[in-house]
Amino acid sequence: MHEVKQLMLHNRAWAMEQVAEDPQFFSRHVADQKPVFLWIGCSDSRVAPDHFTQALPGGLFIHRNIANLVRHDDPNLMAVIDFAIGVLKIDRIVVCGHYGCGGIKAAFAGAPTEGPLGNWLSHARNVYCDHSSEIDAMPDETAQVNRLVECNVRDQLLSVAATAPVRAAWAEGRDLMLHGWVYDLRDGLLKTLLEIDRNTPLDSVGLPERVLV
Ligand code: CO
Repeated sequence: MHEVKQLMLHNRAWAMEQVAEDPQFFSRHVADQKPVFLWIGCSDSRVAPDHFTQALPGGLFIHRNIANLVRHDDPNLMAVIDFAIGVLKIDRIVVCGHYGCGGIKAAFAGAPTEGPLGNWLSHARNVYCDHSSEIDAMPDETAQVNRLVECNVRDQLLSVAATAPVRAAWAEGRDLMLHGWVYDLRDGLLKTLLEIDRNTPLDSVGLPERVLV
């Protein structure tokens, strides 16, 4: 109960502070949203994108799931991408992994294999299988997990590129850009892995350089 009360009190204090600093803070966003980015990231509680990018309300359209996976059989994310591109007219999509991702660690260790979580993480296990020689060549388990985090961002970004709304936007000549990033929990910094635009030959996108070293 104490935690609930604290959360509500912090919310009140925050709302009052915003209005004190900027009386139009809330009213300017009531009618509509015009976010520039669709952000696809991990649900991890330490990886809060609007916090570490200092994005204001209206800045990021956010979808988070365990291990930032882009599965074409996920109706939730497919609807988010459809809405972001078709209605919000977003032209910047970020897939962001992070250092020491627990979902990726579990997929790397081969468990769990059953239940909703096992089913979900099977997609990340496939990423490991596809890049196992690259990942296994890393010197220790931490480095192997982080290399899988990076390979996963690359594969999920390609998965975004293969969705119908993205392909349609590129066919129309829209300047839609896909960004693959990782967030490093150790220093709080975002690091760039790769970018894909409408001129990128998708069948020749290689593995990104290591940045989580
Ligand atoms: Co994670």
